[in-house]
Amino acid sequence: MKNEDMLMHVRGASLFVDDIPAPGCLHAVLFTSPVARGRIRSLDISKAAAAPGVAAVYTHKDVPGLNQVGHILKDQPLLAADGVEYIGQPIALVVAESQRAARRAAKLVEADIEPLEPVFSPREAAAKGHIHGKRRERVTGDPSAAFAKCKYVVRGRLSSGPQEHFYFETQRALAVPGEHDTIKVYASAQSPGAFHHHLAEVLGIPMHKVELDIRRLGGGFGGKESTAVWITAPALAAFLLKRPVKLALSRSEDIATTGKRHAYEYDYKLGLDAEGKILAYEVDLFQHAGACADISPAVLGRSFLHVSGSYNIPNLRVSGTSCRTNVPPNNAFRGFGVPQAVFAIEAALTHAAGLMGLPPEELKRRNLLKDGDTLAYGVKLEGVNAGRCWEVLDKRAGIAARRSAVEEYNRTHAGTKKGLAVVPVCFGISFAQTALNQAGSLVNIYVDGSVSVSTGAVEMGQGVNAKIRIVAARTLGVPLERVRVDTTNTSRVPNASPTSASSGADLNGMATKYACGRLRERLLEFAARHLSCDDPAKVSIRDGEVFVGEKDPVMTWDRLVAAAQWARVDLSEHAFYATPNLHYDMETELGRPFAYYAYGTSLTEVLLDRSRGTYSIESVDVVQDVGESLSPEIDLGQVQGAVVQGIGWSVLEQVRYAPDGRVLTGANSYKVPDIKFVPDNFNVTLLRDSSNPFAVCNSKAVGEPPLIHGLGAYLALADALRAAGATGPLPPLPLTPERTFMCLHGKASE
Ligand code: MTE
Ligand code: MOS
Repeated sequence: MKNEDMLMHVRGASLFVDDIPAPGCLHAVLFTSPVARGRIRSLDISKAAAAPGVAAVYTHKDVPGLNQVGHILKDQPLLAADGVEYIGQPIALVVAESQRAARRAAKLVEADIEPLEPVFSPREAAAKGHIHGKRRERVTGDPSAAFAKCKYVVRGRLSSGPQEHFYFETQRALAVPGEHDTIKVYASAQSPGAFHHHLAEVLGIPMHKVELDIRRLGGGFGGKESTAVWITAPALAAFLLKRPVKLALSRSEDIATTGKRHAYEYDYKLGLDAEGKILAYEVDLFQHAGACADISPAVLGRSFLHVSGSYNIPNLRVSGTSCRTNVPPNNAFRGFGVPQAVFAIEAALTHAAGLMGLPPEELKRRNLLKDGDTLAYGVKLEGVNAGRCWEVLDKRAGIAARRSAVEEYNRTHAGTKKGLAVVPVCFGISFAQTALNQAGSLVNIYVDGSVSVSTGAVEMGQGVNAKIRIVAARTLGVPLERVRVDTTNTSRVPNASPTSASSGADLNGMATKYACGRLRERLLEFAARHLSCDDPAKVSIRDGEVFVGEKDPVMTWDRLVAAAQWARVDLSEHAFYATPNLHYDMETELGRPFAYYAYGTSLTEVLLDRSRGTYSIESVDVVQDVGESLSPEIDLGQVQGAVVQGIGWSVLEQVRYAPDGRVLTGANSYKVPDIKFVPDNFNVTLLRDSSNPFAVCNSKAVGEPPLIHGLGAYLALADALRAAGATGPLPPLPLTPERTFMCLHGKASE
């Protein structure tokens, strides 16, 4: 089953925020801080307010409710009041007849800011105690005693860099005021419930006066999950001016002022016995969070739970610090801290393999998770598919043969070198924050037999609406065409969790299944009565027809529905799903945070030009466990997209900051993988015969886990670098062509 949204995208028929007609709409632009840290001495908006076409200029004093959009901690003002903590922090909101007039006027806002010393290094921030929330630490087993027994011990420092989301549709929202101080907001946002709440708080009105409506996003990738600035700002203006107001960031504003994937720094120590079994691992994570907590502590929490990657590690010490620095608050990005955590263990194992003279994949295979292993937070694993994914990949790609071929190539070629890496994935599925694992669904059957489904899930290209539609059609027994998934709207489905953590289809699909299941039961019962059938169990609905026993259909779905409505049967149902048996104790750092795990294994091969440092990704073979896929086409696309995005993070995409904290990177200097960068030889296999009792229709989440395979590009390049004679410590991620060159011919760090 195709993702029908995609067909509309390529025809240009899909509606985004900018396609919503809004007569008389004003345009809002933010005036933002030009310094990374400072105290606002004075602010003069008079020139801007008097500029042509300007309707109003607002500051923090104009916020009728709470001047606050902090997501986890209340530490993020919508408009800065006394101080600024990063370049790009909103200070004033300029509203004008056109976007151009608003931009011109914003340049006339005068802010006198006394500069203060900023901090840009996460380690320095940690040392100074500039952190969000608490430093977390957990010790499992006895790492010190275990290290004493190790034959091999490696230690080192690592870093991974930020990543720009680069969604097609930049941050934007349109706010339309209604009667009696109500407001309707159309937004490109992943968190209907939380943003609904932020809107009401900022405007100082109850939530029932605010309606947030989301048709679809031109990509989110986590970047539209937590920061409510670009939604609440136009709503504030629309509320005060009683006119529709739109705010849309330009690409450069978006890159310069919105959060990115968190950069991390690491200290690691890994110990193995003579057979290459991991005995102990220690890792300290320093997360570059930026100026406000935003969603960073949650991202760090997920990193914290994934530091052992796909390996069984009996003795483990992990610490995590969310470091407060003076850059725009970083936020969620596909993988939500897991890729960063997995990078450290994968790098440490690569380091150890070098010391032991073994191919890294051999070490990995020996330590792979299996049934009965216990994770550091106390979960005893069952249904582990790590081994199966590995075996299927090995059968397809022949890992040992590929290793020999690479070695042979490297023996016979001096100017170019090959490298390969195998990356296993084990990704916990559920929000680590237990409370978020809930969803609602509202299903209406209309008298003509058509079905409308509303959930809290947000469509952003991942095909969640197509999956929900499949679940509804299957459960009701009607053809797909009879079902339509409506917009995500807070008046139809309230308090919805964000669509993230790859659990959009899991949660909202299950709620939809419940709602449709109840409607189906009700209709079957009515049909039995209506058809005077003595045994209701004999009645069934399939493919839009009603059957009694196995005979020919006795009536159509449409007629059944019309008759039911006439007989006063309720044709509307709301259902709720909360994932059972989840819990986590932050004090002991123990619990069962995830309903299940998504597994995968990949093999990446690269070719490195030794003199130039340039490289190509020769091939990527992936086996991914998606359970019983609701839609193999969609899942395949999700795996492909995630892998390519992961490769971009690991070897290509680099965000640069100037010494004063400005983001130097613009759309013209930021390289995201394009279609030519994707390896010609890119094979994705969905694991067969995998079932999953913990998610809707036995499926498994797919949105984020395969991004980890992108690490294979970095690791394969590191492998090729070693073959080329580069001996230094593992370079920072991303391993760009420049860095690769420096590893070969200069200093690895810049
Ligand atoms: N796919 C597309 N095309 N666009 C996106 O923005 N976001 C990813 C992933 N796949 C994204 C995507 C992220 S970060 C997540 S968490 C999941 O989709 C969210 O959707 P799901 O929970 O329905 O899988
Ligand atoms: Mo995805 S980073 O959980 O929105």
